[in-house]
Amino acid sequence: MLVAIDGPAGAGKSTVARALAQRLGYTYLDSGAMYRCVALLSLDAPNDRPAALAQKARIELGERILLDGRDVSEAIRAPEVSEAASRVAADAGVRAALVASQRALIAAGDWVAEGRDIGTVVAPEAELKVFLTASPEQRARRRAAELGADPQTVLAEQALRDERDTTREHSPLAAAPGAVLLDTSGLTVAEAVERIAALARAASSTA
Ligand code: C5P
Repeated sequence: MLVAIDGPAGAGKSTVARALAQRLGYTYLDSGAMYRCVALLSLDAPNDRPAALAQKARIELGERILLDGRDVSEAIRAPEVSEAASRVAADAGVRAALVASQRALIAAGDWVAEGRDIGTVVAPEAELKVFLTASPEQRARRRAAELGADPQTVLAEQALRDERDTTREHSPLAAAPGAVLLDTSGLTVAEAVERIAALARAASSTA
C-alpha cells in the first residue's frame, strides 16, 4: 500500500505524512530530504554537475538523514539549502536519479511518501493520492515559526519557490489525476491525519 502526499512547502506535508506513517505502521519517505541532500552537495561543489552529484550520493533516510555517511539532518534545513534544493530540483538529471531511488525504495512494503511529484511521476499507481494545500499566509506563518524567521520574509521567499516549483519544465508541482485535495488551513495535524487515515482505510479495502 502506498499513500502519496504532494503539495507546496508549508502545507503541513512533513508533519502530517510522518504522523500518518506512524499511525498506519507504514514507512515514511521524505523525498524533499533527498533533493536537499543534493543541494547541499551542490553548494559544496558548485563546479560539479548536480545530476552527477545526485547519481553518486549515498542518501540514507530514517530518524536521521545520512549523506555519504555524514549526519546532515540539521544542515539540510538551512534556508540557503531550501533555496538551492528548489534550483537543483529543476534539473532533469537530478530528478531522474532521485526518482529511480525513490521507486526502488517503495517497491516493497507499505509507505507514506511525501513530495511534489509522488502521485504524478514517482508512483501514479499509488492506491491513495492526496494533495495538501493551505493559504500562502498560513503556510508562511508555519514555516516562519519552525525557522524562527520573519513571516513576511518567508512569504516572499515562498512565493519565489512556489513559482519555480509550479512552472518548471520537468515535473512541475501539480495535483495528480485522482488526487484528493485537502486544505489544512483550518485543520489541526491530528484532524488532517485522521481524514487521510480514513481515506487510506477505504482505499486499502477496495485495493
Ligand atoms: O519538501 P521540501 O521543502 O523539503 O523540498 C525541498 C525542495 O525540493 C522543494 O522546494 C522542491 O523544489 C524540491 N522537491 C521536488 N520534488 C519532490 C520533493 C521536493 O522537486 N518530490
